[in-house]
Formats: sequence, C-alpha cells, structure tokens
Amino acid sequence: MKFTVAIDGPAAAGKGTIARLVAAEFGFAHLDTGLLYRAVGRKALTLGRGVIEPEQAVKIAIELSEDDINRDDLRTARVAQAASKVAVLPKVRAALLQFQQDFARREGGAILDGRDIGTVICPAADVKLFVTASDRVRADRRFAELLPKSPDLTLERVRQDLMQRDLRDASRDIAPMKPANDALMLDTTNMTIDAAVQAAIDAIKGAKKE
Ligand code: CDP
Repeated sequence: MKFTVAIDGPAAAGKGTIARLVAAEFGFAHLDTGLLYRAVGRKALTLGRGVIEPEQAVKIAIELSEDDINRDDLRTARVAQAASKVAVLPKVRAALLQFQQDFARREGGAILDGRDIGTVICPAADVKLFVTASDRVRADRRFAELLPKSPDLTLERVRQDLMQRDLRDASRDIAPMKPANDALMLDTTNMTIDAAVQAAIDAIKGAKKE
C-alpha cells in the first residue's frame, strides 16, 4: 500500500509533532525534511568556519549521509538559520529531491513534513495539510522546546529566528513555502495537540475512504 501525506507550514507551527503522532497512528514512516536542510546548513557552517559557501553546501547536500542527519545538535536557532540559507540554493534542493520522493512512495505509507512537500516534492500526495499558528504562539512553543538545552536563549531571539526564516522561506524563488491549492488549512493557534492530530487523522481517514 502506498499512501503519502504532505504536511507543510511555517516554522514551529506544530508540523513535526502532528506528523510524528499521525505516523504512529497509521504505521506510516515519517520524514522530517527540515532535518535534511539543517544537516546541510550545520556542516556548511562548520566547514566554512561560520560562513556558508554555496558550492560547498551543494557538495555537502550531494554527499549527505545518515550520520549527518541523525546528529543531536541540529535543533538550534543557529542551525535553523543556516538551514534556511542553504535552502534557497536550487542545487541543494535538487540534490535532496530524489531521496524525499523515494521516501514518499515507500510501501506502507509515508508522511513528510516541510515547506514544499505538497507543492514540489509530492504534488500528487493523497492528503495535504498546511499547518499554521499565530507568530506569538509559535515563538512561545519553540522557546519552551529549546530552553532546557539553551538556558541563555531569549523569547525575542526565538521570535526573530522564526520571523527571519519565514520571510526567507516564503520569498525565495525556488520552492517557496506556500499552501498547495488543494491543501487543508489547519490553524493550531487555539488547538491542543490532541485536537490538531485528530483533525489530521480525520482528513486521512476521509481520503482513505475515497
Ligand atoms: O522545525 P522548524 O519548522 O523550525 O524548521 P525545519 O522544518 O526544521 O526547517 C528548517 C529550515 O529548512 C526551514 O526554515 C527552511 O528554510 C528549510 N526547509 C525547506 O526549505 N524545505 C523543507 N521541505 C523543509 C525545510
């Protein structure tokens, strides 16, 4: 059985949490595609000693390994910024395309979350969701998530990271962040995680019946 769910939306809107729980419910494999860009961004920053060199980022994307993706230091604001900088490079996106598309078509079903899953990676996905939340709520959620590992972090710094990335992600020429025409919009501002997950599950069950 092949079944693809695409979840897109701005930074810290809850895409990853929803995708993880929905994947567990249906037994789908889950790919957090942001991790691919974070892995490329982190390595480009490290090899460039703090400066991202586009040609080097492309080479890193082509040679990206599982070890690069499975690191535990990818979820920082600094790496997130680097991710959104390498994500504007067409050759970086091209290098990561096939892996994502193969993942989406695997047996047993797959759920991918990112920015361009419903529009570019899997335009024929069985279910597409575009998850949003207010700027305030997204900043609060991400701050709470990062604080235990980064006690010096401020809410304002987190808010700025999200706003800068959303602007860069939505305004880039290639694969900009935007809802697919046929995406179901899910505003999670005033929703519990359970309610958001339930809405996603209902959408998938509806699509499976068709
Ligand atoms: O977790 P959060 O929503 O903050 O970010 P993420 O999903 O880990 O993505 C990090 C960055 O990677 C984003 O700001 C985008 O610039 C980029 N990205 C992308 O361009 N396309 C994707 N499919 C996923 C992430």
